[in-house]
Amino acid sequence: MAIKTIKTANIKNKTVLLRVDVNEPIENGKLLDDFRIQKIIPTIEFLRKQKCKIIIVGHLGRPEGRWTKELSLRPVAHRIAELLNYKFVETTTHLPHYPIAHVVLYGGKITEPETKVALDAASSKDIIILENIRYYKGEEENSLVFAKKLASLADIYVNEAFAVSHRKEASVVAITKYLPSYAGLLLNEELRWLGLVIKAPKHPFVLMMGGLKISEKAHTLENLGKHVDTILLGGGIANSLLAERGYEIGATPIETEAKAVAKRLLRNYKNKIQLPVDLVVANKKMDSGSIRVSDAHGVKKTELILDIGPKTILQYSRALKKAKTIVWNGPMGYFEHKPFHTGTMSLARIVGGVGKGRCFSVVGGGETVDALRLARQEHFVDHVSTGGGAMLELLAGKALLGVEALK
Ligand code: 3PG
Repeated sequence: MAIKTIKTANIKNKTVLLRVDVNEPIENGKLLDDFRIQKIIPTIEFLRKQKCKIIIVGHLGRPEGRWTKELSLRPVAHRIAELLNYKFVETTTHLPHYPIAHVVLYGGKITEPETKVALDAASSKDIIILENIRYYKGEEENSLVFAKKLASLADIYVNEAFAVSHRKEASVVAITKYLPSYAGLLLNEELRWLGLVIKAPKHPFVLMMGGLKISEKAHTLENLGKHVDTILLGGGIANSLLAERGYEIGATPIETEAKAVAKRLLRNYKNKIQLPVDLVVANKKMDSGSIRVSDAHGVKKTELILDIGPKTILQYSRALKKAKTIVWNGPMGYFEHKPFHTGTMSLARIVGGVGKGRCFSVVGGGETVDALRLARQEHFVDHVSTGGGAMLELLAGKALLGVEALK
């Protein structure tokens, strides 16, 4: 069954509960990134044009039902105000009707009756942002009672939170029982592009995967492995497979549960998987004098694997340049540290170089998007997904609970 989107629904003048995923990195109250925030701005603007009153619901981190000051949505609300060119204000009580539009961070509790009174009386010109929804135990419990309370604040529900749509939480799943529910513009885009990769990919189809943990990506690798022609591996995932093949990986940590997955992948996709043929290694302290390029079979017991080497970059580049479809998730090494960023940066540039037109490319995952942006390639790929776990689950062939609930 297809999901209804706000594009075709009659939402004029309605009060909209807009669930977004603005789970951005924050340090000491400072926002370190705004990628996901920027992605919801067109939806807010669309709803403004429809004269909707907007109540935004989002989460930050995992406060597990506790009001944790460091996980307040304040920096996010502030950034939304900046991007919309609105004034920013916060309150826990009533909302005055300001002469000009404000973004209001509302810190009152949803569970208190005063909140409904305050929000009902608020001006529809303002955009109201409720405090971190995971401050409430009912959220992660997918509580019907909590969802009903939340639903009482609005006329319709819009899921614009692709990145959290794999979670069974009250503002993602249970809420849809109480309000007419629609997909937002971004959710719809994510499903369209990622659906295309699974249902109608053009060949050669190349999957490039890296990152630390093989356990988080095993299902995705196993499912997408069936559809792709080539699998290029880097990072911790490649190290686990190298170890399984009997290569020395030195002091490089790998997950204990990786062995079985690595074995299965090597058995099932032997002819599709490419592993690094050379690596950038260093001693445990990563002293600059100890950094060297090693053949894959020449890693010493005391060394850490920190990036793919130049021969591997060349080999992977050739595969990427022939591709008609590329999916990339996970960096090739410890790219946050400059001596080890070359593998990830070089391949990000290749993905950007072949994207849009010559090849259909999808990139996703927090660190991968960071790397893509660092290489200034984000505008050259067809789809940059806001989802980390959600994208992996969808590509693993699983249904997303939040999306199913909209049907
Ligand atoms: C994400 O950042 O991937 C989503 O917001 C989900 O967050 P979670 O893993 O804490 O549920």
